[in-house]
Amino acid sequence: MDLQSEISKLKKDKNAVILAHYYQVPEIQELADFVGDSLGLSQEAAKTEADIIVFAGVHFMAETAKILNPTKKVLLPDLNAGCSLADSCPPEDFKKFIAAHPGHVVITYINCSAEIKALSDLVCTSSNAEKIVESIPRDMPIIFAPDKNLGAYIQKKTGRQMVLWDGSCIVHEAFSFNKLLKVYQDNPGATIIAHPESEARILETASYIASTAGMLHYVSQRPYEKFIVATEAGILHKMQQAAPQSTLIAAPAKENNSCACSECAFMKLNTVEKLYRCLSLETPQIEVNEAIRERALLPIERMLELSR
Ligand code: 13P
Ligand code: SF4
Repeated sequence: MDLQSEISKLKKDKNAVILAHYYQVPEIQELADFVGDSLGLSQEAAKTEADIIVFAGVHFMAETAKILNPTKKVLLPDLNAGCSLADSCPPEDFKKFIAAHPGHVVITYINCSAEIKALSDLVCTSSNAEKIVESIPRDMPIIFAPDKNLGAYIQKKTGRQMVLWDGSCIVHEAFSFNKLLKVYQDNPGATIIAHPESEARILETASYIASTAGMLHYVSQRPYEKFIVATEAGILHKMQQAAPQSTLIAAPAKENNSCACSECAFMKLNTVEKLYRCLSLETPQIEVNEAIRERALLPIERMLELSR
C-alpha cells in the first residue's frame, strides 16, 4: 500500500490536518500540513477548522491542541510519545513547590502536563520565554518549571528573581561538551547554534540560541555557512531544505550511537505506519478532563495573547 497517498486521501475525506514538530522523521514532516516549533504548532492548533488534528509530536503538544480546540478530535500516532521534561514534574510535587514559594508568579514551559498548566499563571515556549518573563512586574519573584536549563538561561538574560524546578530534557542534556569542542576545532569557521534546553556550558559556546523555529530561521538567512546544531537532529531536515548550500553538522552526543547525534526517542515513536493507522481508525485520541482543561487554557491563552 502507498501509505503516503492513502494518508493524503484519508486527510481529505475526513477533513483532517497533520501538525508535525521539527523533530519528527523526515517522511512525517513531508506529509504534514504544518511543521513548526511548540509555539507555531499551538497557534495552528488553536485556529484550525479541520475536524481532526493528527498531532505528529509528543503527548503534551497534542494535549495543548485539545485544550485550545476541544471540539476537535485530536489524535496522537503513539500514546507512549511522552517527554522527559513533562515527566520530571508530577502535579502533587509541584503543588508543594508552589506552596513552599508563596507570592511567586508561576510560569511553566509548555513541555508539561495539563495538570501542571492548570497550576500556572502563564505558559511559555522557548521562543517567547524571555518576553513572558518580562511581562511580569520586575519586583515579583517567579517560579519557572520544569526546565532548569531554559530557566537558568532566561534568568541570566533578564536578571530576574527566579526559582527553578529541577527538570531537564534528556535529549539536550545528552550533548558532549568535549566532543563539541573537537568538532568545532575540526571545522574552522563553523558557527555553533543551540537550543536553550541545552546545558549552560553548551550554551556558552553558542553564537546563537533560540527555539527550533528560531534556529531554522537563523540558518536560512545565512546561506553557504557552516553550522554545528545543538538540538534534536530532526531539525536538520527542514534546515537543509531552507539552506541547501550550507553545511550542517549535528552536535555530538556523549554516548556513541548510530547517528552520532542526539535524537528524541519519544518523538521518534511516531512512524508513517502509525500515522496512517491512527488517522484511519481515529485512535488513539487525546482527552482532557474538562475542569483541568478550563484552568489550563487560561495561562496558554495569556501566552498566545502576549505572542501576537
Ligand atoms: P521548540 O520546538 O518549541 O523549540 O521545542 C523544542 C522541544 O524540545 C520540543 O519538545
Ligand atoms: Fe521532551 Fe526533550 Fe523530547 Fe522535546 S526533545 S519532547 S523536551 S524529551
